[in-house]
Amino acid sequence: MSRSESSSAPSLEEQVTILKEQLAQAQKLTALGDLVSTTTHEFNNVLTTIINYAKMGQRHGDRATRDKAFEKILAAGLRAARITNGILGFARNRPQGFEPADLVKLIDDSLLLLEREMTKYRVAVETQYQPVPLAMINTNQIQQVLMNLLVNARQAMSAGGQIVIRLSHDPVHNTVDLMVRDTGAGIPADKLPKIFDRFYTTKSGPDASGKGGTGLGLSFCRDVIEAHQGRIRVESTVGKGTAFTLKLPAVKQPEPNVVPLSPIVSEAPQSHIAG
Ligand SMILES: Nc1ncnc2c1ncn2[C@@H]1O[C@H](COP(=O)(O)OP(=O)(O)OP(=O)(O)O)[C@@H](O)[C@H]1O
Ligand SMILES: [Mg+2]
Repeated sequence: MSRSESSSAPSLEEQVTILKEQLAQAQKLTALGDLVSTTTHEFNNVLTTIINYAKMGQRHGDRATRDKAFEKILAAGLRAARITNGILGFARNRPQGFEPADLVKLIDDSLLLLEREMTKYRVAVETQYQPVPLAMINTNQIQQVLMNLLVNARQAMSAGGQIVIRLSHDPVHNTVDLMVRDTGAGIPADKLPKIFDRFYTTKSGPDASGKGGTGLGLSFCRDVIEAHQGRIRVESTVGKGTAFTLKLPAVKQPEPNVVPLSPIVSEAPQSHIAG
């Protein structure tokens, strides 16, 4: 096929950049909408706890009962504050650039926001944190990527299952590696190269929680990871599960023998989880 270079090519590129930015913004708003609905339920639970223990404290004048009521009210209040802060952190428009970030906190914040959803779909989440340096990331975007991976994992386990989130340090490439593994349906080898394509989906539409089905989630993830000069890798075995690994640049270490990560690679190699 002959390739015709026209003078409008740069402006098309610019348009793609603008559209990608708009897509990122739209993704964020969708995620926020989801969060508002799930966390409103969560808030209802917290308020019920607070109201009931306040009533109990009013009814019973003895010191021990009142102390217990105060304790429960305080715990529920702190939980509510953590949830609100999580949403505010996610909603806040941080500067577009990269900043040193603690991925443990980012994961914990994301899990708090998805806790109710995971319980509802009988998904157990385990975290395995090895000591890792700070990562140089756009916190907001990486949190969106993680939430996309977690929702995909949950959707792959229609009868419930387990998600393992693992953080480790790759000293050779100086990356912080974040793996999300599920025990879901898995992805057939012939479908694996397609999952990062825009609009590729195997879901017939949004599920009961209003999530999934546009086929934009993983293409957004790929764009974000490319912008970080990181990598996103997938391994999957049908019937066993799928593991996505993000390799994100770590804050520069003083060690001398650091091999720089080769630029922008984000394809899905057709490797498989052994077993
Ligand atoms: N953890 C997983 N297990 C099994 N299949 C997966 C997993 N993650 C992604 N997929 C497959 O990759 C496809 C594309 O995922 P992607 O997140 O891009 O789109 P989606 O989830 O279908 O829709 P949305 O844009 O709303 O996220 C999914 O439809 C699914 O077939
Ligand atoms: Mg998805």
